[in-house]
Amino acid sequence: MTLIDTSAATTGGPALTQERRLVTAIPGPRSQELLARKSAAVAAGVGHTAPIAAVAAGGGVVVDADGNSLIDLGSGIAVTSVGNAHPKVVEAVQRQAAQFTHTCFMVSPYEGYVAVAEALNRLTPGDFPKKSALFNSGAEAVENAVKIARKATGRQAVVAFDHAYHGRTNLTMALTAKAMPYKSGFGPFASEVYRAPMSYPYRDGLSGPEAAAKAISVIEKQVGADNLAAVIIEPIQGEGGFIVPAEGFLPAISQWCTANGVVLIADEVQSGFARTGAMFASEHFGIVPDMVTTAKGIAGGLPLAAVTGRAEIMDAAHVGGLGGTYGGNPIACAAALATIEVFETEDLSDRAREIEALMLSRLETMQAADPRIGDIRGLGAMIAIELVDPATKAPAAALAGAVAKRCIAEGVIVLTCGTYGNVLRFLPPLTIGDALLSEGLDVVAAALAAEVAA
Ligand SMILES: Cc1ncc(COP(=O)(O)O)c(C=O)c1O
Repeated sequence: MTLIDTSAATTGGPALTQERRLVTAIPGPRSQELLARKSAAVAAGVGHTAPIAAVAAGGGVVVDADGNSLIDLGSGIAVTSVGNAHPKVVEAVQRQAAQFTHTCFMVSPYEGYVAVAEALNRLTPGDFPKKSALFNSGAEAVENAVKIARKATGRQAVVAFDHAYHGRTNLTMALTAKAMPYKSGFGPFASEVYRAPMSYPYRDGLSGPEAAAKAISVIEKQVGADNLAAVIIEPIQGEGGFIVPAEGFLPAISQWCTANGVVLIADEVQSGFARTGAMFASEHFGIVPDMVTTAKGIAGGLPLAAVTGRAEIMDAAHVGGLGGTYGGNPIACAAALATIEVFETEDLSDRAREIEALMLSRLETMQAADPRIGDIRGLGAMIAIELVDPATKAPAAALAGAVAKRCIAEGVIVLTCGTYGNVLRFLPPLTIGDALLSEGLDVVAAALAAEVAA
């Protein structure tokens, strides 16, 4: 039996009925069948959150092979911000696929790649000449940003922060903080990577300048500015728990980098492209990074990533030092150009701010009645709640896992995150309707309440 119902899949855009609909238990029989094939055929290390076989997605829903329609509060981990299978993206992909699928930009360059670079140079923060290079994944972008910063500065050390997540390749595993599941057993890791304390207002109680002073002291004593090529930071941490640094933290780090000739890399792989209510999260904090890494939301679901930065830094790498067979694939670039047009013409940053208002008001009401919601944080459509033991603030990871599981069983895709695994994060597509989003949050509230009783 084939699980891919193409008649359903072709309705994957916004035409898909926007409703939560459960016609079987989750997973239904067809999903179970695929999951059995998955465990027989796919390496066990590749996990999954929702035990379903997806056949279509669009607007704010994901439809499975059994006909269940789940509310999507995850966007495939912050990717489908313009909605899944957005018609303009689909059209651009189809057009490009019919023209040519690959030449390798390093062999025969094409316009789509250059146009994406131009768009990124225009959109990323900073009013100075910029250049970009394109890659396939967020981790690859981060790897290349570090390569370029090392070449530009002639220094080797890189500083990342507590709770950071930068990917799963060898260098990015070293930059990523959390051992399980990302690093455990996969060493040895890349050298010359150092860790500094992050501003985590809910847990460290420090002001931004205090937290920055602490981080800078660690960097100066344990690394030394003269050895340091780059500081890499997520302006709002993603996998680490949607941690928003205290006001003043990022500007102080940025000023220190500038004063010491250290390249500041903002990893906006998760927070970029309208997700936080601005095109890039850096804008909320008034910082202008020397380099920005992007991926995820950039191309409506096609694999594309980029490094964008000051032209003189980006040009430091010699010809042939950067690239890759598929980096800036023409179909992914066509998708990115269509996606960027949607972000700009449909003002999705504004929509992200509307989503923030709706989510915050609902979550604050929930928190008033439930002290296990220790913290609500995030910006735009990147909002999370940290679940704790109200008496001790100890992370309530089992509760977060149970609530997320219950939500999925009730037809709402909710992701967890956080160093302590106790954060529920909400990353809906920016195309989700208010009614569906509210219904999704109703389900989250009911799942939390049920876990009191459980
Ligand atoms: C901030 C950040 N950087 C890098 C990555 C790695 O991106 P990818 O999974 O595309 O390699 C992620 C992925 O979640 C991320 O959130």
